[in-house]
Amino acid sequence: MRYRRLGRTNLQVSELSFGAARGASTQPAEFARTLHAVLGAGINLIDTAPGYDGGQCERALGDVLGGQGDVVLETKYCPYDSYLPSAVYNGSPAALTASVEESLRRMKRGHLDILLGHGLRSVATLDRFMTDGCYDAMVRLQAAGKVRFLGISELSEADGTHEVLRRTVPGGAFDVVMLTLNFLLQTAAKDILPLCQQHDVGTVVMMPLNQASKESGLVSVAAARELVRRHITAGHLPAISPFTDPTLFDFLAPYSVPEAALRYVLAHPVSSCCVGMQSPDRLADNLRAVDPPYLDDARLEHLRQLFGGMRRQVF
Ligand SMILES: NC(=O)c1ccc[n+]([C@@H]2O[C@H](COP(=O)([O-])OP(=O)(O)OC[C@H]3O[C@@H](n4cnc5c(N)ncnc54)[C@H](OP(=O)(O)O)[C@@H]3O)[C@@H](O)[C@H]2O)c1
Repeated sequence: MRYRRLGRTNLQVSELSFGAARGASTQPAEFARTLHAVLGAGINLIDTAPGYDGGQCERALGDVLGGQGDVVLETKYCPYDSYLPSAVYNGSPAALTASVEESLRRMKRGHLDILLGHGLRSVATLDRFMTDGCYDAMVRLQAAGKVRFLGISELSEADGTHEVLRRTVPGGAFDVVMLTLNFLLQTAAKDILPLCQQHDVGTVVMMPLNQASKESGLVSVAAARELVRRHITAGHLPAISPFTDPTLFDFLAPYSVPEAALRYVLAHPVSSCCVGMQSPDRLADNLRAVDPPYLDDARLEHLRQLFGGMRRQVF
């Protein structure tokens, strides 16, 4: 495993990180086996949230890790009434503080390594978060030693051009951002990653496979073609060759679609690429993708020509 610097936190984090969003309650033994395999592979950054699996993911992390301190644990506080783009902002400093206390209790930890404002989806609600006491509550938790580093995650299905990050990264309030970058939604590559580099903000990439399901996402040729078809239906791509061709992704060979997708992300100056994986076999698949030289310039350019103009995300 290779490690990269997480911006001004100066933490060295594994370039592949573990998205612990699914599986804790539906297959707890497999979740534990996967987590042990993840640690055995040298992955030292784990992303979770209180809302993942109704708190079960954090609880399972606490049970399996037993509070051990040599893993970088990232969790969140969501200041909205749901994860939908249409959700209503309901953040409050008291709820944020209570949420962190609950996360610490579930994960059996005395401190969190990284606390993110979860899914900040518009500049208007970001501004509320920064001025209604929520951000101040994060700073107080940090001063009290309960949180080491502060950050936010975006909601790329509502903000495909990263207006929230454009606004907040230069301000210096956050050490880390969790953002979407994948070969269908490439918008972060041009402006946001350089901005983060300029301000020494750590970058954890989410949805490298576009939050894949079996039917749609960057997990197989069929699922990737279905995702392209959904973009065509939404009017984001034209219904013409090469987008409609069965051979659209042939140029990625010898890489599979998911391997190329992870190699695409790691070819950029990001700190870590966070992937959801629900079995040790899936982890093994993805460990094969993290050896340099990642994705070569010719394939990167081909992907830029095909999808570099897209500004919206669909699933
Ligand atoms: N707003 C936010 O803060 C936010 C939003 C979304 C995600 N996240 C974080 O980012 C992490 C990653 O995002 P994600 O899990 O939504 O999406 P993802 O990593 O893009 O996709 C994960 C899915 O892809 C499958 N997969 C992984 N590697 C594969 C491979 N080599 N071949 C075929 N299938 C593969 C997994 O399948 P199996 O189930 O079969 O293993 C899993 O269902 C999440 O776990 C979460 O921690 C944060």
